[in-house]
This record gives sequence, C-alpha cells and structure tokens, in this order.
Amino acid sequence: MSSTVAAESGAEKAFYLTTPIYYVNDAPHIGHAYTTTAGDVLTRWHRQRGEKVWFLTGVDEHGTKVQRAAVAGGVTPQQWVDNLVENEWLPVLQTVDAANDDFIRTTEPRHAERVQRFWEQVREHGFVYSAPYEGPYCVGCEEFKFAADLVPGTGEYEGQQICPVHGRPCEQLQEENWFFQLSAFTERLIAHYEANPEAIQPRSAYNEVMSFIRGGLADISMSRSSVSWGIPVPWEPSQVIYVWFDALLNYATAVGYGTDPSSPEGEQYANTWPADVHLVGKDILRFHAVYWPAMLMAAGAPLPRKVFAHGWLLVGGEKMSKSKLTGIAPSQIIDHFGSDAFRYYFLRAIAFGQDGSFSWEDMSARYTSELANGLGNLASRATAMVGRYCEGILPAATANGEAERALQELLVSTAANADAAMVALDFSTGITAVKEFIEAVNGYVTEQEPWVLAKDPADRARLETVLYTICESLRAVAVLYNPLMPKKMQDLWGQLGADGLGALAEQRIDGVAVWGQLPVGVSVTKGDSLFPRLEDTP
Ligand code: ME8
Ligand code: MG
Repeated sequence: MSSTVAAESGAEKAFYLTTPIYYVNDAPHIGHAYTTTAGDVLTRWHRQRGEKVWFLTGVDEHGTKVQRAAVAGGVTPQQWVDNLVENEWLPVLQTVDAANDDFIRTTEPRHAERVQRFWEQVREHGFVYSAPYEGPYCVGCEEFKFAADLVPGTGEYEGQQICPVHGRPCEQLQEENWFFQLSAFTERLIAHYEANPEAIQPRSAYNEVMSFIRGGLADISMSRSSVSWGIPVPWEPSQVIYVWFDALLNYATAVGYGTDPSSPEGEQYANTWPADVHLVGKDILRFHAVYWPAMLMAAGAPLPRKVFAHGWLLVGGEKMSKSKLTGIAPSQIIDHFGSDAFRYYFLRAIAFGQDGSFSWEDMSARYTSELANGLGNLASRATAMVGRYCEGILPAATANGEAERALQELLVSTAANADAAMVALDFSTGITAVKEFIEAVNGYVTEQEPWVLAKDPADRARLETVLYTICESLRAVAVLYNPLMPKKMQDLWGQLGADGLGALAEQRIDGVAVWGQLPVGVSVTKGDSLFPRLEDTP
C-alpha cells in the first residue's frame, strides 16, 4: 500500500473506485464494512477482468463531531483519531479482508496541502465570498440544513423540527464565514446529468438529485469560524475549511491532485482521476452528486464518472448508526461465520441500492443452505471421490456426452451474466448466477451417480468424465467467486490442485468459461470442509 506508486507515463487509466472516508468519532460497524466490502468485491472483479485498478478508502478526521468525541474522551482530537485509526479502522480492513491500494487520513499533510491549493484555485476563479451564515446545522450529518430537509419531531422532540437521519433537532448556527457560490452551477449540473444519466445510480438516486438541483441551488458555507479542528482556510487561517469541503477532496488529493504534473504523484493523478465509481450510502448522496461535482467544476477539474448510492442496513427499521449506538461490530459476525461468509451474505441477501436488515437467523440459514450444503458439500464430495476412486489424481474426461456439454454451455452464459451484473454493481444478481451454476453441478452429480458408476469397471470412462467435469466446474467457480470470497476460494484452488494454472487472483473472468483448463493428472486433495457446519449461536 503506497500513495507514491506512480503509474507509467501515458499508461492506461486505472479503474478508480472509492468508498466514503468514515468519521472517526467512534469505531466502525457493519454499515461501514458493507460499503468497504462492496468496493473490495467490485475492484477484485475488475482486476480479474485484466484492468488496472486503484481502490481507495480512508477516514474523515476533522469536524465538530470528532472534536466533541475527543473532548468527551478527555484527549486531544489528534490523539483521539490516532488511537481509533490504529486500533479500529485499520484493523477492520483486515477483518473484512479488503485489498485496498491506499488509505487516506484527512490529517495527513499530503491531503491538507492539496485541499488548501484547491480552495485557493476556486477563490481565484471567483466562486468564494465572505458573508454571515445563520441557520440549522446537524452535527451528526455535519451539514447546514434547509427547512425542507427537516421533519417534525415526536416524543421528547414533539413540537421541534429534527434531522430525519439522526432523529435530533439541529443546532442553530450564526457565523461569519466564507461561502462557495454553488448557485452558479445549477444549470451546468442539470445539463451534465441530463447528458450523463448513468452518472448517478440507482435511478431513484438520480431522480432525487435532479429534483433537488432543479429546485435551485443556494450558496453554501465553505468555512467554519467557530470550529478549530480542521484545515485552516489559507487566506484566513483563523477559520477552518468546512469538514465536507475538506473530506470530499480526499478522492482527488489521495491520487495526486494539485501536484506537479511531471512528478510521480502528478502522473498518478493523470492516470487515475477521474474516479470511475464513488461508492456511498444514500445518506451522503447530495454531497457527492451535487456539491462535489460543483466544486470540481469551480476548480476546472474533470468530474467523476459515477456515484452509486446504496441503501442502509437497518436496526429496528432505522439506519444503523454510530451516533445512536446501534452499530454491530463486524467482528461479532465474522468471528463466527468468517469473512468470506460475511462478504457473501451482505452482497447476496440485500439488493444493492435497497435497504436491508441483518438477522442472525437469516444469515445462519443462508450459510447452511447456500454455502455449507451448496458449494461446500459439492467441493467435499468432488475431492473425496477423486481420492476414493482415482487415488487423488484428476482423471481425464474421455466420454463427454449431452450432460457435460450442457454444463459447459451453462458456464459460458453464467460467466457472461455474472460479469454484466457485477460491473453494473448488481452484486446479488451476479452472485445468484454463480450459485445457480453450482446448483446445476450439484444436480449433475445427483443424476450421474458417480458412486454407482464406480461399481462397474465397464463404466470407468464415464466415471472419470464425471469427476473431471465436477472438478473443472469447481475451477470455474473458484475464479468467479474469488472476488467475493478470496480466502475460501484460495482453499478450493489448492484442493483442486489448480496452482499450476497460476495465482487464483490472476485468473481472468473473460477466460473462465474456456473448458478444460484444469490439467489432467494434478493432485486433488480433500482438505478441511470449506464451510463447516456451525452451531446456531456464537
Ligand atoms: O458520512 N448502512 O461518514 P460516516 C449502510 N465522513 N451503510 C452505512 C450505514 C448503514 N447503516 N452506516 C454507515 C460520513 N454506512 C462522512 C463521509 S466522504 C467524502 C465523507 C456507510 O462515518 C455508508 O457508506 O457517517 C455511509 O454513506 C457511510 O458509511 C457514512 O459514514
Ligand atoms: Mg454518518
């Protein structure tokens, strides 16, 4: 992981994916792990398409929320964030098995300097002016709110207007600060999104953003005078840059925005920016699809190609949240089910873009039926039979028939359908395509009854053909599921004796359906069960 790895000059542009940078007011929960996992699966998929890829995640360390958490914890903001990043946010990447290329912290000098340069530029272009701000501010969202954003409170907040995300009234702010002239970009944003409707997904998110922009954009504060924990406004260092107008810039600063074009960082910027996908939760859609492109327009920088807003993991019908202390730590689930099952479950069970609830029972049920009984059982039956009937040496398929040809054809359409779905971030459909292939292979085993074929020497060629077909099918499954479940698929790769084909992560999606890649004669071993049966509760 390095921020200074430069792309070759004139090299192919990387497929560049980002997650939000998360607030370090507290430890991560499965909502944060969900976005990071989705980004990790998608970038691993693109790598296996043979693309150059850059995957960025990180943390948002400034702002009122973090500052207050530090005060409550009795330490300085820097101590607070250093501790949480080291002991919670970096470790959770290991927990979920994320293979990010870089990790940005907004307190790093590389970020702060480039943020200041950016705003100097926007000011030079005439889009920054000084004015008083008065209005509601939600510290949970770190957002200046409009009346239309708030909803009537109930219970203890009866009679007050509250933030619908955090369920609390806002604080009333009155400050002299610097404004960003967002209103100047209303027409340009509308024109941009009319010409590029795929730039905001899903469609519901696109519609929401378009109606917000069409309502007309008001100018917005880009600095805070009553906050000290942040990046100083370069031309008035007694104020700090508003946390969102520092944080959004991470996507560009981390890949070298604002550096000398002939430096390694400058070359990386040229070969990485703009982002191909900003993956975000729907809570922060407006920042990414309205404020961020307007900022880039103001600076004269290229716009990101796509913002995808996924849904929320809910607890009791509400968004799981650090502020409300409803978060489930990823390790609570992963210690029991493992990281691969975690990754599988959240991307398979919830349609990406919609809300979903986590339930231990549902996860247990899917683990048992789809992973333990489905894929796990297929793999252990296949490797056990090659052991029992062929001394663990993969036999040749010399008697292919209709059933084998049907599976080979199904694999071709499975790979194509999975690829189309995954690159469209329709993870559930992509995973289901592979799962259906596994079910077809399991059905094939049941129909062919290799244990019956094994009883009659006259059926030897058919037995060997069936065993080869199952193992070769599993070779393809390992390749297609590797982005989703890299640890277990590595185990499967080893059990199949596939190492001679090269590293699993280097197997190409576009070549996966070419039949007959697993070499005859390799050693097939029955290792530990891929998805052992688990007790229901931890
Ligand atoms: O908003 N369900 O940080 P944050 C699904 N620092 N995803 C969830 C979730 C849930 N219940 N809770 C959190 C911030 N997430 C800013 C972002 S980016 C320039 C700055 C995920 O710590 C989801 O991706 O509040 C959501 O958008 C993000 O975490 C918000 O994290
Ligand atoms: Mg939040």
